Amino acid sequence: MKKIALLGTGTVGQTFATRLTTLGYDVIIGTRNLQEKLAAPGKDGAKNSFAQWHEKNSNIKAGTFEEAAAFGEMILNVSNGANAIAVLNLAKAKNLDGKVLVDISNPLDFSKGMPPGLIPELSNFNSLAEEIQKTFPNAKVVKTLNTMWCGIMVDPSIIKGDHVNYICGNDEAAKTEVKTFLNTLGWKDQNILDLGDITSARGTEAVLPVWLRIYGAKKMGAFNFNIVS
Ligand SMILES: NC(=O)c1ccc[n+]([C@@H]2O[C@H](COP(=O)([O-])OP(=O)(O)OC[C@H]3O[C@@H](n4cnc5c(N)ncnc54)[C@H](OP(=O)(O)O)[C@@H]3O)[C@@H](O)[C@H]2O)c1
Repeated sequence: MKKIALLGTGTVGQTFATRLTTLGYDVIIGTRNLQEKLAAPGKDGAKNSFAQWHEKNSNIKAGTFEEAAAFGEMILNVSNGANAIAVLNLAKAKNLDGKVLVDISNPLDFSKGMPPGLIPELSNFNSLAEEIQKTFPNAKVVKTLNTMWCGIMVDPSIIKGDHVNYICGNDEAAKTEVKTFLNTLGWKDQNILDLGDITSARGTEAVLPVWLRIYGAKKMGAFNFNIVS
C-alpha cells in the first residue's frame, strides 16, 4: 500500500504528507481548488500556511479532493469534521469504493465559541465515522488517531512510554491493514486498542471534549492517554 491520499490541507494533512513522504509513501494532498488555495491570503498579508508548506514541499503532489481520492490506494480523511461529508462527496464515491478510508476527523461544533462541543446530530447515539460509513457504504471506514495532536499521530515516540491509540471499524481486514500502516508510523501493536465496530467512534470522538479541557489546563497538546489497570 504505497499510494496515500490526504483529504485536507490543514495542519494534519500537511503533517501526514511530509512524514509519509519521508517514510517512502507516494502521497497526494487534496483541496477544493488548488489554485485558489495557493492564492488565498494568510494572516497579515503573508502567504497562507498551506501555500508556505507547498512551496517547501513542492515534491509532494497536490490536487483536488477528486484527483487525490482517485490516486490514493488508501484515503486519509483529514478534513474539517463539520464538512467531512461534503469533502468526501467532492472526492466522489466511485473513488472511495472498495478502499480503506481512514477517518481522523472530529465532528467539532464551534458555533458556541471555545472550546468547541460535538455536533449534536453526530454525537451521543451517532458519530461522524458512522455517518461517513452510511453515506459511503462501499468504503471501508476505519476510525483511528483522532484523539491526539497530529505530531503524536505520525511519530508516537515523541511521548515516552506506552500511550494508547484507538481503532474501530466494521471490516476486520481493513483494520488489520490500518494497524500495519500505524506500525510504519511507529505505533506498537501493544498500544493500538481495537474497540470493535464503527459505532465505537461514538466513544473515541467523545474523547475530544476531555482532550480540549486538558489542553486548556496544561496549555500544550503534546500529551496522550494510557490505559492502566
Ligand atoms: N490538529 C490536530 O492536531 C488534530 C488532532 C486530532 C484530530 N484532528 C482533526 O483532523 C481534522 C483536520 O484538522 P486540521 O486542523 O488539519 O484541518 P481543518 O482546518 O479542520 O480542515 C481543513 C480542510 O477542511 C476543508 N474544508 C473546510 N471547510 C470546508 C467546506 N465548507 N467544504 C469543503 N471542505 C472544507 C478544507 O478545504 P480546502 O483545502 O479547500 O480549504 C481543508 O482541506 C479535523 O477534523 C480535526 O478535528 C486534528
